[in-house]
Amino acid sequence: MTDRFGIVIFGASGFTGKHAVEEVHRLAKNDRTLSWAIAGRSQSKLEKIIKDLQDKTGDDLTKIKILIADVSDADSLKDMTKQATVVVNCCGPYHIYGEALIQACIETSTNHVDVSGEPAYMEKIQLHYNEAAEKAGIYIVSACGFDSIPADMGVIFLQQKFKGQLNSAETYLENSVDSEYYKFGDVSLNFGTWESLVYGIAEEKNMGSLRRQLYPQKLPQMLPKLKSRYIIHKSNIVNKWCLPFPGPDGSVVYRSQRYLYETEEKRPVQMSAYIAFPSLFTLLVVLFVFANIAVMAQFGFGRKLLLKHPRLFSLGFVSHEGPTEECMNNTKFTLSLYGQGWDEKEVDVNGKPTTKSMTVRVSGTNPAYGSTVTALIYSGITILKEADKMPGKGGVIAPGAAFAKTSLIENLNKNNLTFEVVD
Ligand SMILES: NC(=O)c1ccc[n+]([C@@H]2O[C@H](COP(=O)([O-])OP(=O)(O)OC[C@H]3O[C@@H](n4cnc5c(N)ncnc54)[C@H](OP(=O)(O)O)[C@@H]3O)[C@@H](O)[C@H]2O)c1
Repeated sequence: MTDRFGIVIFGASGFTGKHAVEEVHRLAKNDRTLSWAIAGRSQSKLEKIIKDLQDKTGDDLTKIKILIADVSDADSLKDMTKQATVVVNCCGPYHIYGEALIQACIETSTNHVDVSGEPAYMEKIQLHYNEAAEKAGIYIVSACGFDSIPADMGVIFLQQKFKGQLNSAETYLENSVDSEYYKFGDVSLNFGTWESLVYGIAEEKNMGSLRRQLYPQKLPQMLPKLKSRYIIHKSNIVNKWCLPFPGPDGSVVYRSQRYLYETEEKRPVQMSAYIAFPSLFTLLVVLFVFANIAVMAQFGFGRKLLLKHPRLFSLGFVSHEGPTEECMNNTKFTLSLYGQGWDEKEVDVNGKPTTKSMTVRVSGTNPAYGSTVTALIYSGITILKEADKMPGKGGVIAPGAAFAKTSLIENLNKNNLTFEVVD
């Protein structure tokens, strides 16, 4: 694979892609061994991405190669993937555009990472392509962005620090923006994420049957069973009003834990994800908006309306232009993971009351487009440089299981995505 670029960013002209290009350039400046190129379907848009970055940084990027590939043209995809060791895929919604690129990667033995937050898509890819990826000797690792590196690697981090048996983890996500840079109704997300959310919700109905095909046998029951909290509850862990987090973290963590149980007989950690709000009023508004989206996304006509009027149905949260740099750079997130289990001295623990707890925290800035691309590019670099520390010889694997034994957490810690023990 030596004549290939280390990393090729596909979908580089998009909102996330543009930030991924900035990040790979930042990292490659300090690592001359990291070669990279960008790819997409529009030469002029990709040239503009390079020119804008050149103007912003003052660096000479004229030698950066542009590869043209369109999802609807399989040969163009293969021409692109055969020039990469790892394709970093920023072209979503993955439910619509993802599968063709996975096929091209398998045919050309190219590793693949992405920032999908669509659980049904990810489980479908694992079901249909795991074996082929193993045979091709490549890793296909989705959910390498804010969804779901903090939660999935966070549970791995908690397991590593716990020194004993971890039975369960409850995660609490908090977001905050300085009021100087954001007021209610301002844009926080780009349309691409909204589109993926709408299709992701519509695809949820297939999750049950996908799960049964992917995992025909149930996991043995881990006891004590982690109890679900009330839908609306005030958590004493973060001291805020909380809702169950409807994102992909639960599905991704389950896949990692299940993989580690099946390959290493590690006790799987039960996990519940919640999102915290600054006030009960904010929680109720968000619940109302989300319930509305969830109902509308079930019907073709409803999806059309949601996609045509993103600002209206998200109460200003989403637009085609995306959030401002100022707003993004002043948005912070914290994911607290509260774990319960037993001390290392205790044996035959299943079913016994837990005796030990620990909280770890993952935090960072600009979750959707800053922390996301840092985690994404480092996931790609980890495959490039530490494939020998990854499990098996390839496959479709969730990030926690794929990167558990690598230095990904250490590298993220050095790059403002912090993993720490707090209690
Ligand atoms: N998990 C996370 O934490 C996280 C965070 C951020 C984003 N995301 C995900 O990232 C994805 C992208 O979001 P975004 O906001 O960046 O979207 P976007 O701005 O719309 O970008 C989409 C990209 O896909 C490209 N594309 C579309 N159709 C194509 C085709 N037929 N062939 C080749 N390229 C094609 C576009 O190229 P053109 O410019 O030529 O149209 C563009 O580069 C979404 O699925 C979103 O959910 C996830």
